[in-house]
Amino acid sequence: MIIAVDGPAASGKGTIAKALARHYRLPHLDTGLLYRAVAATVRRLDLDPAREADAVAACDFDELTLADPVLRTDEIGQLASIVSAHPLVRAALLRRQQRFARQPGGAVLDGRDIGTVIAPDADAKLFVKATPRIRARRRHTELQAHGSTLSFDKVLADIRARDERDSSRSAAPLVRAADAALLDTSFLSIEMSVQKAIALVEERVGPSGDR
Ligand code: CDP
Repeated sequence: MIIAVDGPAASGKGTIAKALARHYRLPHLDTGLLYRAVAATVRRLDLDPAREADAVAACDFDELTLADPVLRTDEIGQLASIVSAHPLVRAALLRRQQRFARQPGGAVLDGRDIGTVIAPDADAKLFVKATPRIRARRRHTELQAHGSTLSFDKVLADIRARDERDSSRSAAPLVRAADAALLDTSFLSIEMSVQKAIALVEERVGPSGDR
């Protein structure tokens, strides 16, 4: 069974995807980490994120980069949204994500284009959303816990900028797939969001999740 979880920054998609993976005993891939690793590599090599050729060169990143805490920073999130708009960057990361999705038994993937591009044939698709202010509040708390001193207003502005960039790019923009179930987590606790996500998946695949 393949489960696709898409949505904007700090919508709760990562937490929900991880919980679904645990519930159904499936492997999970946070595809945002791949774009963040490209971004961190661009920065480390002092390349230009706006130049497609530079960003493509960084797609061959060292696997150890995926565990680097720098990937969580707001700066790398912004850079990731710049490098991810290049069609050749998306193409370079496509096969790796599709291999993960199609492994025997299935998988849960979260990102921006899982239900539309990476796994359009997924058994269940969720599109997770929340208001920009609520997402900014969550991300601000998360960044503070990692020692960041960014103001709430700056985090909100960054979230709005990233939403705009991710939704308006021509290569695999952030859009809800026509057959994705919508899950608005604005006023839901993590537990409630996860329960609702499981219920939505079961609506598609039945209670056993056996498909
Ligand atoms: O956790 P958060 O939603 O803040 O970010 P992320 O999922 O780690 O993604 C970082 C950036 O990578 C996003 O703003 C997108 O521009 C890009 N991305 C993408 O284009 N496609 C994906 N499947 C996942 C992330």
